[in-house]
Amino acid sequence: MSHHPKLAILGFGTMGQAICAGLVEASGYPAGLIHAVDIHPSAMKARAEALGIRLSKEVETAVKEAEVVLLCVKPKELKGLLSELTAAGALDHKPLVVSIAAGTNLAFLDEHTPEGTPLIRAMPNTPCSIRKGMVVLSPGKGVTEAQLAIARALFEPLGRVMDLDEKHMDAVTGLSASGPAFMFVILESLAEGGVQCGLPRAVATELAAQMTLGAASMVLETGKHPAALKDEVTTPAGCTIAGLMVLEDGRIRSVVARGIERATQVAAGLG
Ligand SMILES: NC(=O)c1ccc[n+]([C@@H]2O[C@H](COP(=O)([O-])OP(=O)(O)OC[C@H]3O[C@@H](n4cnc5c(N)ncnc54)[C@H](OP(=O)(O)O)[C@@H]3O)[C@@H](O)[C@H]2O)c1
Repeated sequence: MSHHPKLAILGFGTMGQAICAGLVEASGYPAGLIHAVDIHPSAMKARAEALGIRLSKEVETAVKEAEVVLLCVKPKELKGLLSELTAAGALDHKPLVVSIAAGTNLAFLDEHTPEGTPLIRAMPNTPCSIRKGMVVLSPGKGVTEAQLAIARALFEPLGRVMDLDEKHMDAVTGLSASGPAFMFVILESLAEGGVQCGLPRAVATELAAQMTLGAASMVLETGKHPAALKDEVTTPAGCTIAGLMVLEDGRIRSVVARGIERATQVAAGLG
């Protein structure tokens, strides 16, 4: 298989478009090798045209022509879609099928695809659209290192890629796939604080976003524990410890952690 396999993206919604945008706009994946399929393609025509990819309703054609099939429909749509494709023989001898559906385990995918189909579960997030994504991969039974390498090569241009055992996938979904929404709310709250203290909203939003980016990059680049980095900026009787005390009064840690726990529980029930 070439460095850029022929790709069928089934479901061109939020994630299908985010992955496609990351591949074509941000990492130079040849648009001509991507065929996206959606049941309502007219609604996304402009986006597909801007990306230069093919978009149609022709699911069997797209899958038959593809080397790698990326399943980007909602979990509840997956069973019907896979049954249709299996019945039509479209998935026979497919080199690789990757599903990003939340809460849908490899056993389910295995049950609804032809015997021996190489399956990988992937959990991306929307920052993949700007190459700042996080993607976790869990290979199915019998997936070779070469097949896993194809999936890694597909997602690596979109951000960080990590392999994890499938038992962690619901927690990955609650933290890293739902996470951007949580961070947007936290970012908005940070900006509101700035506005409350007199900053123009656009300035407050930019400061909040760049500060969040910087703090996250410090964790990733220094490898230090977040608590150690927090201690470094917390001087005795200073403004930072004063602000932290208020956040702790509001139980920020347990509220955020329980949000991830709840998202994980719901993710587990989506399949
Ligand atoms: N959103 C996220 O941040 C995120 C992150 C990680 C993983 N995921 C997973 O990614 C998958 C897609 O999520 P999403 O948020 O992108 O959903 P979405 O925006 O609803 O996109 C799914 C698209 O697939 C279309 N579709 C439905 N049935 C189809 C079929 N049989 N053939 C072709 N297209 C079909 C839908 O059309 P209609 O709208 O007309 O039904 C919709 O346009 C889900 O399984 C989700 O668990 C999402």
